[in-house]
Amino acid sequence: MTDSDSLADRWREARPPVAGLHLDSAACSRQSLSVIAAAAQHARYEAEVGGYVAAEAAAPALDAGRAGFAALAGMPDAEVVFTTGALNALDLLLGGWPAEHKTVACLPGEYGPNLAMLLAHGFDRQLLPTLDDGRVALDDAALALQTDPPDFVHLTAVASHTGVVQPVAMIARLCSELGLPLVVDAAQALGQVDCAAGADVTYSTSRKWIAGPRGVGVLAVRPDLMERLSPRLAPPDWAPQSTVAQQLEFGEANIAARVGFSVALGEHLALGPDAVRARLAELGSISRSLLADVPGWAVVEEAEEPSAITTLASLDDADPQAVRAWLLAERRILTTYVGVPRAPLELSAPRLRISPHADTTTADLESFAEALIAATAAVA
Ligand SMILES: Cc1ncc(COP(=O)(O)O)c(C=O)c1O
Repeated sequence: MTDSDSLADRWREARPPVAGLHLDSAACSRQSLSVIAAAAQHARYEAEVGGYVAAEAAAPALDAGRAGFAALAGMPDAEVVFTTGALNALDLLLGGWPAEHKTVACLPGEYGPNLAMLLAHGFDRQLLPTLDDGRVALDDAALALQTDPPDFVHLTAVASHTGVVQPVAMIARLCSELGLPLVVDAAQALGQVDCAAGADVTYSTSRKWIAGPRGVGVLAVRPDLMERLSPRLAPPDWAPQSTVAQQLEFGEANIAARVGFSVALGEHLALGPDAVRARLAELGSISRSLLADVPGWAVVEEAEEPSAITTLASLDDADPQAVRAWLLAERRILTTYVGVPRAPLELSAPRLRISPHADTTTADLESFAEALIAATAAVA
């Protein structure tokens, strides 16, 4: 038995049996039985002792979750705020951003809803140069950032529409040399690639590669930057004093989901982030080599791209949405339809995406390749 087999087995055995084939962790992964139990137990405790008493009792578990995220982001001294997801984290951050002139540099492959959020907060966008696959062109980007420095750089470490992994550590070094704050969207990267680059801000979501519950996310901010944020909902004079982080986190929340997320972060750390990353990169490479010869589709990523996300572009007009629906209805294979709005400045046509987690086997991926051939013929 190889190390990846045992990790795959542990990941599988920790979860309820899957109905069909789940190749959709980049959308929403499968929670473990312990994560489900922790959230359910918290809800039960709320019923027994009261929601606010239960929340106080959960504080150490939530602090462990915050510390786990800060460690994975390489920001051990960061202040960490729970949110309802990644987009909510960005909204909270931008709502309190200190700059008068609001300019941001990002990549053309930026996640569509993030672009909309930046626009909604009045940020002017500057696009950084990339290579053909959407990866940042580092030297050209350095020149662009030096010539026309934005207020901050926003980097989506792994996007929603491609498995290309951006060189986060190198961009972090560049931004630090240029004195530019770096904000990293780690929604697709957390748990899948190394995010410990020490950005100024890292935010993410629970339900993807960390396999926590839905409806919860996290925002980590370096203390000095946190102090300069002015949350939209500033505390009135008559309210008790609160820190900026407390102001950002203020409001009703699903504490059970936060508890579940914290447990999922703990499980990820216990499994070993390096081992999980290696397994996911291995699955990406197996997927791409198996799919390379499927007629009518082009694999978008390089075979060795170190992520488990593989996207397929249709060469013969097979509609990825119809193919996804066929795979689910006829074979119970869960994939993703990636529409152009996910990356409106980079995508010109929709794609089909698979994103297998650690328990997926080579046989599963072979079944998918065979089913994709059948689906393509069926929807033609
Ligand atoms: C790259 C990226 N950023 C942000 C988000 C938004 O995450 P959430 O739905 O938790 O707000 C997603 C969700 O798919 C994503 O893929």
